[in-house]
Amino acid sequence: PVEKRVDDLLSRMTLEEKVYQLNQYTLGFNHNINNLGEAVKNLPAEIGSVIYFDADPQLRNGLQKKAMEESRLGIPVLFGYDVIHGFRTVYPIPLAQACSWNPALVEQSSAVAALESRMSGVDWTFSPMIDIARDGRWGRVAEGYGEDPYATAVYTVAAVKGYQGDDLSSDRRVAACLKHYVGYGASEAGRDYVYTEISRQSLWDTYLPPYEAGVKAGAATLMSGFNDISGIPASANHYTLTEILKNRWKHDGFVVSDWGSVIQLVNQGVAADAKEAAEKAFMAGVEMDMTDNCYQRHLAELVKEGKVPVANVDDAVRRVLRVKFRLGLFEHPYTKEVKQEERLLLPESLRAVERMAEETMVLLKNSDNVLPLSGMKKIALIGPMAKNRADLLGSWSAHGRAEDVCSIYDAMHREFAGKADILYAEGCDFEDESRGGFAEALDLAKKADVVVLCLGEKRGWSGENASRSTIALPSVQEALLAALKEAGKPVVVLLANGRPLELVRIEKLADAIVEMWQPGVAGGKPVAGILSGRVNPSGKLAITFPYMTGQIPVYYNHRSPAREGRQGRYQDIPSTPLYDFGYGLSYTDYKYGDLKVSADKVKRGETLTVEIPVTNAGSRDGLETVHWFICDPVSSISRPVKELKYFEKQLIKAGETKVFRFNVDTERDLSFVDSDGKRFLEPGDYYLMVKDRKVRISVE
Ligand code: IFM
Repeated sequence: PVEKRVDDLLSRMTLEEKVYQLNQYTLGFNHNINNLGEAVKNLPAEIGSVIYFDADPQLRNGLQKKAMEESRLGIPVLFGYDVIHGFRTVYPIPLAQACSWNPALVEQSSAVAALESRMSGVDWTFSPMIDIARDGRWGRVAEGYGEDPYATAVYTVAAVKGYQGDDLSSDRRVAACLKHYVGYGASEAGRDYVYTEISRQSLWDTYLPPYEAGVKAGAATLMSGFNDISGIPASANHYTLTEILKNRWKHDGFVVSDWGSVIQLVNQGVAADAKEAAEKAFMAGVEMDMTDNCYQRHLAELVKEGKVPVANVDDAVRRVLRVKFRLGLFEHPYTKEVKQEERLLLPESLRAVERMAEETMVLLKNSDNVLPLSGMKKIALIGPMAKNRADLLGSWSAHGRAEDVCSIYDAMHREFAGKADILYAEGCDFEDESRGGFAEALDLAKKADVVVLCLGEKRGWSGENASRSTIALPSVQEALLAALKEAGKPVVVLLANGRPLELVRIEKLADAIVEMWQPGVAGGKPVAGILSGRVNPSGKLAITFPYMTGQIPVYYNHRSPAREGRQGRYQDIPSTPLYDFGYGLSYTDYKYGDLKVSADKVKRGETLTVEIPVTNAGSRDGLETVHWFICDPVSSISRPVKELKYFEKQLIKAGETKVFRFNVDTERDLSFVDSDGKRFLEPGDYYLMVKDRKVRISVE
């Protein structure tokens, strides 16, 4: 029925009305219900979509009324917004979410974000961001799920399910948008808006798999990237946008450009002016122009000149209308106006954020089991992050507010009430010593049994156009740690940041390190639970932590070098990272048994099972993630030294043994693609690997 309705509507539209559907309009940031009149006046009644920065259903309804009542055909507007890790109930940043290795939590957080968004007037989120990123200097590394294509694909599917559910027309779901299609994460030297050099082979190996998974999971839309893929910008790339996305993957929703990515084709040197930019982007397969106004100004003219076939315009409009029909906008153009307390920060959502944040945090170091803190009577809580709340929200935090966040300081007081005194000094600011001062902090440290030092990044240091030339923390923060060591007390470092950090100097000085990321509104509560021992940490890194910035790019699934060992090394630093992908400690001790495989010879197309027992040999229950890798040592196109193919997280009670199992589907898990996406399974030997264990199997 949707297709019939789309066709019927399309047959009644003029070219101008069609072009309007292909444009997204921005009212800017400062609109609210008090200046609704002005917003309505500025809005074209026929416009296809609006970027909606507000959280007020009344404002949306006021705007929608104009479209419904003043446009000739009464086509509802589609309201989109960047709801990246929560709307008002802000969840940990996606990079942190990935470290939970718990896709169910990602689905749940996306479902909460969807509910708050839709009930506040947003139909469409520009999320999930699924760009593989291997350069921590790039600010947007915070918004994605890390460096691995398989893990990102799994989280993509979870996010799409959480946002869209089974029925997009539900008033609790929103349309998802896979972004930024494709390869944006490969931005040269970690700078934003720059060139990306991506071979067709790595496009298929690394950057496309999460998109393919998201499209298969039913993602309604995609956003085309700012990047220039080896000379053909992502927003003018017929190969990725049409040949792959529409022709091979049969995506029937639409692609929106990124803000500026159409007009920027001029800067990128593939279009002479806005008109040619419109032609190139549209003909490549970008259906909606986000705010650049290029389609609005030039598309009808391009059709009249015969440069853009009307059939292409019809196809594009059909895609946009299809999403609007699926969202049920024609039946329910308006949002129910329910009070904020009935749609935002619901108690069960807040509990869910805390649970998720607990699983995202990664214990990086714990010398002499200094954590959990026990028997400590005085805790010196020091550092620029200790009382901070806004920065714990992370970048792109939609309608999140600092006042919703529990600071580490408040959380520590609650967690240790009646057990230990919390002494506080700021020590230094994020970038200078001006506030607080080292001397006061050192004095405090001397009086305490343990120092908890809260370091990290301000939220604006990651996100769009927020690249850094180094992934080290500003030197004042490291100097504060060095100064505090003079007190001779154990120092626990808590890190709240939006990228992997250069921790080589911190690692040498700290007794324990907890990577708490930017946890959203849960703030300091989960980390306080880790410090007290109420929570047993279970997060593992979804991105490699380089030894130093100069080691970038460093990632686990690199191809095999021509020479090993001391060959091809740096003269001044090790070649290996400081913390590997998948690394993370626990308060308990897991003993891995031997790998057992159901068959060591298989024919192509057959499946086999491999399993490994894991015993919790410690005295605490824990959640353990097993990562299953494969290695194809000899193949016609060389393969990475190892590739993640499956992961699973299970609760293992103290003393208990759990068997982790991976059902290997040879065609799915052992095959690889060529530089045009054609899949091969080659006969020969493969290794199945977990940690340092591996077992060989042969495919005949
Ligand atoms: O969705 C974003 C995108 O990720 C970066 N540029 C702006 C868009 C809309 O806000």
